[in-house]
Amino acid sequence: MERRTKIYEGKAKILYETDDPDLLIQYFKDEATAFNAQKRGIIEQKGVYNNRISSVLFTYLERRGVRTHFVKQLNDREMLVKRLAIIKIEVVIRNISAGSLSKRLGLPEGKPLPAPVLEFFYKDDALGDPMINDDHVRLLGLATPREVRAIRKRALVVNNLLRKFLDKRGLILVDFKLEFGRHRRQLLLGDEITPDGCRLWDKETLEKMDKDRFRRDLGKVEEAYQEVYRRITGSQLSADFGELSRAVGSRQKP
Ligand code: TMP
Ligand code: ASP
Repeated sequence: MERRTKIYEGKAKILYETDDPDLLIQYFKDEATAFNAQKRGIIEQKGVYNNRISSVLFTYLERRGVRTHFVKQLNDREMLVKRLAIIKIEVVIRNISAGSLSKRLGLPEGKPLPAPVLEFFYKDDALGDPMINDDHVRLLGLATPREVRAIRKRALVVNNLLRKFLDKRGLILVDFKLEFGRHRRQLLLGDEITPDGCRLWDKETLEKMDKDRFRRDLGKVEEAYQEVYRRITGSQLSADFGELSRAVGSRQKP
């Protein structure tokens, strides 16, 4: 499948048309941003790690009945996806308090939540992605009430599946962000599932293994992505975990 016209370039990915009007190529870049692009940098090989991590996770979800935009991985940095009309809602699911939840509600980071907490944010960079509720979704015409119900249900299914999958690989799914879109009247999970949009903590050491290392200048950013990649794609799933996560943690700033 050949790349044709570039139709979108975001902070971490580029979308190209293909010969097939229904299919797009999603290209993963090494660029990283945080705090609505006020902080910028490069995470070496991130595009390669994220493309593979997403491909594995989308495949896993598809096999368990979650419909996604993923078709197949094409090469190191590209995957073939179904063309979506993206719904401008960032769906965040949280299992443990961290990030903006901790800040907003004054909860200490690391507190397990009694049940998953689901939040919607309006995907609008100019507004800084403000948090919204179902009434705002209706007001802005972002999705129908039926779609909102389906999104909630699916987000929780994805949470359960990913938690289990990651737990077996020594990772705690603290929180993550999903995006959905419409393809030929079907609601599909889109975007990516990677350490850019998930908080992943090592189960033993509680080391951060995700983009928070970049956001907060914790060091060993590439190593963390590489380690998540290794755990998610690798065939050996046990002995050397502790050692590698200690290596990630050992250079952490106080
Ligand atoms: P938050 O705690 O900053 O609201 O982030 C919650 C989750 O959403 C976290 O796993 C990172 C992800 N996320 C994105 O994917 N994109 C964003 O722009 C933000 C702010 C968070
Ligand atoms: N990706 C977002 C941005 O640059 C923020 C983040 O992930 O923290 O705006």
